[in-house]
Amino acid sequence: MSYFQQHQSDFVEGLKAFLRIPSISTLSENKPDIRRAADFALKELRAAGMTAAELIEGQGNPLVYAEWLGAPGKPTVLFYGHYDVQPPDPLDEWKSPPFEPEIRGDDIFARGACDDKGQVYIQIKAVEGLLKTTGKLPVNVKFLLEGEEETGGEHIEAYVKTKPPRLKADAAVVCDTEMFAPDLPTICVGLRGMVYYELFVEGANHDLHSGVYGGAAPNPIMAIAEILCALKDRDGHIHIPGFYDRVVPPSQKERNAWARLPFDEKEYVEKEMGARELVGEPNVPLFERVWARPTLEAHGIRGGFVGEGAKTVIPARAVVKISTRLVADQRVDESVEQFKAAVKAVTPKGVTAQVKMLHSGAPSLTNPDNPFIHAAAEAMKQVFGKETVYIRSGGSIPIVGVFDRYLGVPSVLMGFGLPDDNLHAPNEKFHLPNMFRGIESVARYLEILGQ
Ligand code: BES
Ligand code: MN
Ligand code: MN
Repeated sequence: MSYFQQHQSDFVEGLKAFLRIPSISTLSENKPDIRRAADFALKELRAAGMTAAELIEGQGNPLVYAEWLGAPGKPTVLFYGHYDVQPPDPLDEWKSPPFEPEIRGDDIFARGACDDKGQVYIQIKAVEGLLKTTGKLPVNVKFLLEGEEETGGEHIEAYVKTKPPRLKADAAVVCDTEMFAPDLPTICVGLRGMVYYELFVEGANHDLHSGVYGGAAPNPIMAIAEILCALKDRDGHIHIPGFYDRVVPPSQKERNAWARLPFDEKEYVEKEMGARELVGEPNVPLFERVWARPTLEAHGIRGGFVGEGAKTVIPARAVVKISTRLVADQRVDESVEQFKAAVKAVTPKGVTAQVKMLHSGAPSLTNPDNPFIHAAAEAMKQVFGKETVYIRSGGSIPIVGVFDRYLGVPSVLMGFGLPDDNLHAPNEKFHLPNMFRGIESVARYLEILGQ
């Protein structure tokens, strides 16, 4: 029996301990838990046999760094992951508490199980297994973990921008994506970028009686509705001048490959999404809509009266949270200017709308004809016993663009989540067999790179 098979139950216990730490990055009350999660990862890396392990302290949540550089002449791989998680709400929809990991069947349920603690754990245990059994690694390895990915990763970007010599690497390995289907080894070669905004809309300088003033007073909530509908129409088309100008359509080769993916649309809509039907741009195939087209979504509207019963009021102000997802070759800064100009142009009279940008990340698209990606596809194929597929994802991982831009390092996205893992939602889970195969895939990957 291999080290990996022998230690499966230890891995599960270790992951449970990691998952019990509520390291929610958006909430300031969880700051101490953020630190506990960083310390946990640090200790795990040290115990695995990594050297120079330390927390990099700056303005934000600590980064966790570690290295093993005992393979001179061999390539250097930089592992990235995040130890922070999304808030668990709505709490009453969880079958077991989000920070008390519970195993049901082959799945472990907890916030962060898949996104991204379970996958960070895969990387650490792969390295641990190799170091414990052979005393060395086939290539040089570095780790850089962050605790702010779910809030935009501002501070890791500031750090990487300074091009620290210790981040020098030939490729980054990011385990923070999903497989296309159970048992189907998958590499993600494209991610959408994103810009997250808050829009502050103001009408009168105080709330007004809606009977006395209705018909004459500006209404910020109505204005938000108007702005949203002007920015995106019923066909999912975004009306921001210039927004689509740099959008690169997928190649015919990629479209063909996507059309060959095993896919049941009915199951996707009804089971995975739990919706009645799909919406969006007509005549654009589904995968292209979610992987290769930009979008604009509203996430929440605050304002007016939301308590029990009726209150006849015209609110003085309201706020809406909006994000745009970008695809290659759209540029973050340019899209922000376009967005601001479009909001200005469609803001109805009587109100002011102020745009505040919360965070952003560039889109990324990697050419799969790259030896680091080929090796990953081969490693996963060997472990899963199936040909690896290449897909894109509609989600965003800002660090991929940051590594590319400031370090010139390509990222290999080997992900082990499943489409029904409920990322960011109640009952997030991680499929334990994927954790075990993930650990073996990453270890195999390092072996192949070392050959
Ligand atoms: N791991 C996800 C992104 C992801 C999920 C990629 C599934 C591919 C498949 C990541 O933690 C995430 O949630 N990113 C945020 C962006 C961030 C800047 C808030 C996202 O995509 O909303
Ligand atoms: Mn993630
Ligand atoms: Mn996430």
